[in-house]
Amino acid sequence: MRYSLITATLASGVFAARPFLNEPDTGIVDALGASFPVGSLPDIKNMNYTYYRNGAGGEWSYRNNLEVYNRYRFKPRMMVDITKVQDSLPTSILGHNFSAPFYISPCARADYAHPEAEINLVKGAAAAGILYIPSLYSHLPMETIAENAAENQTLFAQLYIPNNDTQTQTYFDRAEKAGYKALVWTIDSPGDASRQRAARFDVGSSNVELTRNTWEDLEKYRSMTKLPIILKGVQTAAVAKAAIEHKVPAIVLSNHGGRNLDGSPSALEVAIEMYQEDPTMFQKIEVYADGGVRYGSDALRLLALGVRAVGIGRPFMYANAFGQPGVEKVAQILKGELIGDSANLGVPDLKKIDAEVVNWTPNGWYS
Ligand SMILES: Cc1cc2nc3c(=O)[nH]c(=O)nc-3n(C[C@H](O)[C@H](O)[C@H](O)COP(=O)(O)O)c2cc1C
Ligand SMILES: *[C@@H]1O[C@H](CO)[C@@H](O)[C@H](O)[C@H]1NC(C)=O
Ligand SMILES: *[C@@H]1O[C@H](CO)[C@@H](O)[C@H](O)[C@H]1NC(C)=O
Ligand SMILES: *[C@@H]1O[C@H](CO)[C@@H](O)[C@H](O)[C@H]1NC(C)=O
Ligand SMILES: *[C@@H]1O[C@H](CO)[C@@H](O)[C@H](O)[C@H]1NC(C)=O
Repeated sequence: MRYSLITATLASGVFAARPFLNEPDTGIVDALGASFPVGSLPDIKNMNYTYYRNGAGGEWSYRNNLEVYNRYRFKPRMMVDITKVQDSLPTSILGHNFSAPFYISPCARADYAHPEAEINLVKGAAAAGILYIPSLYSHLPMETIAENAAENQTLFAQLYIPNNDTQTQTYFDRAEKAGYKALVWTIDSPGDASRQRAARFDVGSSNVELTRNTWEDLEKYRSMTKLPIILKGVQTAAVAKAAIEHKVPAIVLSNHGGRNLDGSPSALEVAIEMYQEDPTMFQKIEVYADGGVRYGSDALRLLALGVRAVGIGRPFMYANAFGQPGVEKVAQILKGELIGDSANLGVPDLKKIDAEVVNWTPNGWYS
């Protein structure tokens, strides 16, 4: 922080002119063009793409979610035997075993990419051995999604909990009956979001009422269901600490992919705040995180602080334009990157990655 005055002065001219790359130009579009027959690229119409891509307000939190990882450079360890790192990819999430420390975040409206909608996501997750958390606002009912699950597949159900307890009880009962193993209560959007990019196509937020989300409600909801309740959308160390005090089994650090409150922090910034306050918080509660995770190296920064699993939203939604194979491909690429990146970082066991492999002094224009 002591750099702030100097860098602010130096950066002021540069910053205004700095272009924002929506996605880094990796040349992937050309590569796809070469290896796919012409016409086989996904036909995601502007409205559909815009609904997925959209962020709130000026989309600064959306941008920050993507850019934050590169503010923290690695300190790669050399001369380490990393040849067994792939054995450390499998992990457990709330006691359920999965093949990798990442999962499909809950995203509404999978029909915007593919007519089979969430069926591709649930089957793709089964084939990849990863967790899928269907959104309450999925195109298909939660029962239909669960019916398409593999026999031994674990699903958690994302819920927005309304002010009406009768309706809430119905959601809880449906999720239990359909075989979901946990409820993921999204607490980061009690109000409406201003989604201006999406509003142009009338596919902005549909939050109709101000929603009461309190610790008293949590106690009440626990008496209404047998399922464990996870909190999604924790954005400060203080709320993480309160979750531990309230014996919440797991939290998701998330700003909803930058879709709700513009200016809300990225999951990595919240994880850093928690780590600085008390690194043992990550042992006292299972911590998951999402937002802007696009590469294995992004995920490694979160895992380094003690995050147990990372969620991926948009990449799976976009990939669903290719159906189930697209979903599986994202999982396969990310597994490969986690293995390769941790090897290059000198981390032989993903479960033992620690905060020392990252230089936590932010580089660039932001410190
Ligand atoms: C199209 C779309 C719809 C979403 N719908 C929901 C939802 O219904 N419930 C929820 O808790 N989060 C929802 N989210 C937020 C995601 O669960 C997740 O927090 C976010 O997408 C992670 O950021 P990423 O897309 O950059 O990976 C949605 C995100 C997107 C992109
Ligand atoms: C989950 O994995 C652990 C450790 O690898 C193993 O001991 C346990 O039997 C597995 N549980 C299930 C239900 O497969
Ligand atoms: C866009 O979404 C609409 C609404 O579900 C759907 O009918 C349409 O087929 C989608 N377009 C594409 C190209 O997937
Ligand atoms: C789930 O079942 C399939 C076959 O239906 C099997 O191949 C796979 O190993 C099982 N996975 C777990 C985690 O038990
Ligand atoms: C609460 O939900 C139930 C079931 O959906 C409905 O019948 C009832 O009218 C609702 N109550 C209020 C106050 O809106």
